[in-house]
Amino acid sequence: MSHLNHGSLGAVPISVQRTQQRLRDETEANPLKFHVQGLHDRIIHTRRHLAAFLGADPDGSALLTNTTAGISLVLQSVRLGPGDEVLLTDHGYGAVALATRRQCRRAGATARTVALPLSTPDTEVVARIRNALRPGKTKLLIVDQLTSATARGFPVRAIAAAAREHEIPVLVDAAHAPGMLAVDVAAIGADFWVGNLHKWAFAPRGTALLSVAPGWRRHIDPLVVSWRQDDGFPSSVEFQGTVDHTAWLSAPAGLYMLRTLGIDAVRQHNAALVAYGQRAVGGALGLAPADLPDPGVPAASMRIVPLPAGLATTVPEAHALRQHIADKLAVETAVNAWGGRGWLRLSAQVYNRPEEYDRLAERLPPLLKALLR
Ligand SMILES: Cc1ncc(COP(=O)(O)O)c(C=O)c1O
Repeated sequence: MSHLNHGSLGAVPISVQRTQQRLRDETEANPLKFHVQGLHDRIIHTRRHLAAFLGADPDGSALLTNTTAGISLVLQSVRLGPGDEVLLTDHGYGAVALATRRQCRRAGATARTVALPLSTPDTEVVARIRNALRPGKTKLLIVDQLTSATARGFPVRAIAAAAREHEIPVLVDAAHAPGMLAVDVAAIGADFWVGNLHKWAFAPRGTALLSVAPGWRRHIDPLVVSWRQDDGFPSSVEFQGTVDHTAWLSAPAGLYMLRTLGIDAVRQHNAALVAYGQRAVGGALGLAPADLPDPGVPAASMRIVPLPAGLATTVPEAHALRQHIADKLAVETAVNAWGGRGWLRLSAQVYNRPEEYDRLAERLPPLLKALLR
């Protein structure tokens, strides 16, 4: 099986798995001692390590299980009311849109989507979002640092600045950014920023960091109330009763791995390889380089290829095609329906080789042709 879909669930290096297993062994040797003596300090130490790596304020950041949890936490904390709205882009992650719609429904607010055609240049992206903001009404703007379905990097710093002009809070969904992109959370200047360490930073699954601007910290309302509720952010968010914290505590081992390999070398390798893969597969499908979307950020380790018209135009069809490709060609990819058509998303990571994309390029066109017959 070729794994050309690092972006969906990452991959945990063996050294990091061993670190986590050692921590689990320590837990099982004496669960009470592990949880009561020093765990809180270890969590704070880990948070400081991860926040420093991402340029975030360690005292204004909280460890979380995933970006999904961070999005719901922020949506709950901004206290939407009747008539308010949350602005999303049409590149946003499906579960983020679902969470937004639920919170809006509960509050009598609405979720509105701004359309950003794939080829929209960055300056135009900022302008379209700026024009879509309704001061006094828009209570939150959610924008991705690197999108899932379209693998597009957005100029989040400029977008946050535009929203700030109207005092509209911004939540950056940076699920794919840690490890893949050179992130400086403080420089982005968003009110909220949340990213996963378990995709591109080699952490065990269940590791994310939420960074919150100073003015919002006292408004953060944990999704689960536990013993540290009265301590306020971030402890109120990080302490959720009896849960397994070994993924968080192992995350620094993932960063160690990344640094050992050389962060710049990893980024250059992945970006060049996925560009190669996009050209190889796109070319095999008869697409010219100009037909292949550019992520807009040099270090992007995911790229998309448009599928022939009529394929994977809905979410269920996209899921079925991804499974079909995995079953028939032994290649894991991501397939998404976006903008009325299907898209194949390829990822590259240090364990991938050009031959894997070549093999996909050779075998995918006949497979798709058979489906279109
Ligand atoms: C842009 C984006 N946002 C949010 C998520 C959700 O991440 P998680 O499942 O780790 O919560 C993903 C997952 O792929 C994503 O791509």
